[in-house]
Amino acid sequence: MLKYVRKYVLFALLAAAFMVSEVSMDLIQPTIMSRIVDEGVLGTANGGVGDLHLILTLGIRMIGLVLFGGLCGSLNNVFTHIAAQNVGNDIRKDCFRRIMTFSFPQMDRFGTGSLVTRVTNDITQVQTLLSLFVRGMIRTTMLTFGSMYCMYRLNPAFGRLVLCAFPLIVAVMAFCMKRSTPMFVRLQAQLDGINAIMQEDVSGIRVIKACVREAYEKARFGKANDALTGTQLSVLTLFAFMNPTVNAIMYVVVSLILLAGSHQVQAGTTTPGVIMAAITYTTQLLNGVLMLVMLFQNISRGVASWKRVREVLRSEPELRDGPCKAPLRGRIELRDVSFAYPGGGHNVLEHINLTIEPGETVAVMGATGCGKSTLVRLIPRFYDVTEGAVLVDGVDVREYDQQALRGQIAIALQKSELFTEGIGENIAWGKPGASQEEIEQAAAVAQAEKFILRTPYGYETPVAERGMSLSGGQKQRLSIARALIRRAPVLIFDDATSALDLATEARLYDALAEMAPQSTKIIVAQRIATVRRADKIVVLERGRIAACGSHEELLRTCETYREIYDSQMGEEEPHE
Ligand SMILES: Nc1ncnc2c1ncn2[C@@H]1O[C@H](COP(=O)(O)OP(=O)(O)O)[C@@H](O)[C@H]1O
Ligand SMILES: [Mg+2]
Repeated sequence: MLKYVRKYVLFALLAAAFMVSEVSMDLIQPTIMSRIVDEGVLGTANGGVGDLHLILTLGIRMIGLVLFGGLCGSLNNVFTHIAAQNVGNDIRKDCFRRIMTFSFPQMDRFGTGSLVTRVTNDITQVQTLLSLFVRGMIRTTMLTFGSMYCMYRLNPAFGRLVLCAFPLIVAVMAFCMKRSTPMFVRLQAQLDGINAIMQEDVSGIRVIKACVREAYEKARFGKANDALTGTQLSVLTLFAFMNPTVNAIMYVVVSLILLAGSHQVQAGTTTPGVIMAAITYTTQLLNGVLMLVMLFQNISRGVASWKRVREVLRSEPELRDGPCKAPLRGRIELRDVSFAYPGGGHNVLEHINLTIEPGETVAVMGATGCGKSTLVRLIPRFYDVTEGAVLVDGVDVREYDQQALRGQIAIALQKSELFTEGIGENIAWGKPGASQEEIEQAAAVAQAEKFILRTPYGYETPVAERGMSLSGGQKQRLSIARALIRRAPVLIFDDATSALDLATEARLYDALAEMAPQSTKIIVAQRIATVRRADKIVVLERGRIAACGSHEELLRTCETYREIYDSQMGEEEPHE
């Protein structure tokens, strides 16, 4: 935290200085007030004759002090906010930068909902903590101890009374702090849960409606929300009881001061003005303590949030970059690769051996969940292998600089994610600064040109959030165009043409073969029609290679392949 605060320490110090001035004004006032009452009104020093002139001068001085104190208070506010907002801004940027370095396993572990809460709500809590710290800490400590000191100076007996009440108040506060801290931790976790559901349900609202799952999702959200409300109410209840308790203690002190004061006035050892000032100081003290309570409430919340933010900031990138930045030719080798997802337990891939020569087209097929996507994810090193090695051009992927490696492997993922920009920009996204000609060429190969030109503004047509305005096949073709525009030596399509009709798909692969004959192409697919023309077809079965060969070879030798072939024979053959 210090690292972030250090940059704005000047503002914090200025804020602190103004705060000290503001509180000093507050502390001087009751003393002046007691002089106005005793000397000006009652004339205690003058045998009972008041002094109008003194009342006037002291009154003007008091107004001046109030105005000056108010100005200091405002300036304190301004500088505090400058410091706190800037610190929050820096932390938020750093968090975002850190999240961008996260590996796939780290993303899996944190979860999107939690990361969103941490970067938004948690950082806001930290900001509040900081401004309260700069404003509140100084104000409350000065007000509490200053009032106590002024009171002691005015009348030691009153001072001692307040001092006796102090340990009681601290005990009440300590009790509440101890109870509330775990509640705040729970509160933020529940907020994570709500954000996660919110995100899932809002982006998946079409599925929810299609499956008529509104009631279920409402109940799920309701449950999460009720839990949050419950915790919040417990916290508020706790503090609702704390404030009156502290108040009660302080008013007992006020009564005692009045009692002791009346005896002292009768004995002639004190004056009514002093009693008045003492009561004002006690109220100020009470205010200080109550603010301290609020401060502690926010501190426990802020600290809980800061810990969550720190967890993000301290997450080291898990995949270390290697030194290799060499341009790729596209030879890929999986050498006895086994892989289990972190925390997943069992091996998703087992003892995979596979070599792909530059320029070859290799198809990977198999039942859903057999590990096809997992296999291709290992090549750009989205995950590190558990055993064995993945080599590109004979060099282990762990030896590569990640950006250099991924920059040369264009991948169209199974789930096509688009961004809320124009269609053309979405394609150019794969290659910043791509020319319109390149965009159009990539779109043409991806068989996306026709439908793009039919949209109202062509390449300028905006894509709705997550590509909602497009059909599945249109989205897939845009993701493919986005991958193709990079003209990478290695191309990976993870089930990226599954939503296309066979004819369009065949045209796409023809155009692809013509456009990038020298690129290594890895195509994950389910349909025989898609894979039959590949140089090599890999049949995966529960994480193992069941067979590998050309279409004709597999038809002769592989039982599983023949079964798939037979089951799909009825389907339309691609038009050549
Ligand atoms: N991010 C992940 N974390 C944990 N397990 C995963 C993850 N992604 C996939 N799996 C599991 O790995 C197995 C293979 O998944 P996948 O490679 O996506 O199959 P497919 O062949 O359909 O592409 C599945 O059993 C799936 O549950
Ligand atoms: Mg898959």
